Amino acid sequence: MATSYKELGLVNTKELFAKAVKGGYAIPAYNFNNLEQLQAIIQACVETKSPVILQVSSGARKYANATLLKNLAKGAVEYAKELGYSIPIVLHLDHGDSLELVKSCIEGGFSSVMIDGSHLPYEENIKLTKSVVEYAHAHDVTVEGELGVLAGIEDEVVAEHSSYTKPEEVIDFVKRTGVDSLAISIGTSHGAVKFKAEQCTRSADGILIPPTLRFDILEEIEKKLPGFPIVLHGSSSVPIEYVRQLEKFGGKLKDPVGIPEEQLRRAAKSAVCKINIDSDGRLAMTAAIRKVLTESPAEFDPRKYLGPARDELKKLYSHKNKEVLGSAGRA
Ligand code: G3H
Ligand code: 13P
Ligand code: ZN
Repeated sequence: MATSYKELGLVNTKELFAKAVKGGYAIPAYNFNNLEQLQAIIQACVETKSPVILQVSSGARKYANATLLKNLAKGAVEYAKELGYSIPIVLHLDHGDSLELVKSCIEGGFSSVMIDGSHLPYEENIKLTKSVVEYAHAHDVTVEGELGVLAGIEDEVVAEHSSYTKPEEVIDFVKRTGVDSLAISIGTSHGAVKFKAEQCTRSADGILIPPTLRFDILEEIEKKLPGFPIVLHGSSSVPIEYVRQLEKFGGKLKDPVGIPEEQLRRAAKSAVCKINIDSDGRLAMTAAIRKVLTESPAEFDPRKYLGPARDELKKLYSHKNKEVLGSAGRA
């Protein structure tokens, strides 16, 4: 039986985005797939009084189970109240790739969906996105579309030449699809290795310093779509402390580099009103777990390593809400 997100106490993104664009901050979209991540997100967002988007990829939905997810989201709303402060909570599908998946998520209590047709030819992206918008809006669910392809270290296509969002397309895309928000490509990318080492400079102590995001493209898009909600994917900062802790306790990452916090702060003050963060949470959690398991080899109670991982995550999310996105105090 279908469940509306309203029955779960969730909200869609409409009002949240309108306030965020006006207020010059961004709503955090934190990916999750398990209990400790959800606890950390809710604890941090209640404590900092921040609205939040609980973001679930199709892989995460399969991992966690759709029925459990629906009830976890409902539980999150009640847990926030129990912690003493009711915050707006969105349950959002990340990188949806078909109308069938979107329908199934909406029936399962999602209040917002992304349809990612960014890899498709322009007209096909419009067709797919429009079909999702028609279905979602009939259920009062908001839709994020995407134009431009995020560069990845695995991509052979150099972003400078072909993958950034083309500002001349955005008005037509938004008008013809009816999307509520638009994800754009201005130099961010997914994962913990966001740039090739040769695209970066190196600080004296060997830390990679990435090229600056294309704020000129963002500004052009803002001029074309005044006040329209813009979304940034691939916005983890890959904090060096977590990389060092991970490596100290046996982990290995080749040339990790993220988006510096000051650039995200700058973006959050513009029409960017949703910032997606997944990799930083993975890093913080894994670094904490590695530390416990290395320092206490006899430990085998999962609560003894998942608990510290959850605490580290909560610290990370509170920091982001307060110091990077500016969402603290906006709930
Ligand atoms: O943008 C992708 C997110 O980081 C989700 O990743 O598909 O491995 O869950 P995933
Ligand atoms: P990161 O890999 O930078 O955390 O990006 C996550 C994301 O964009 C999820 O859609
Ligand atoms: Zn993404």
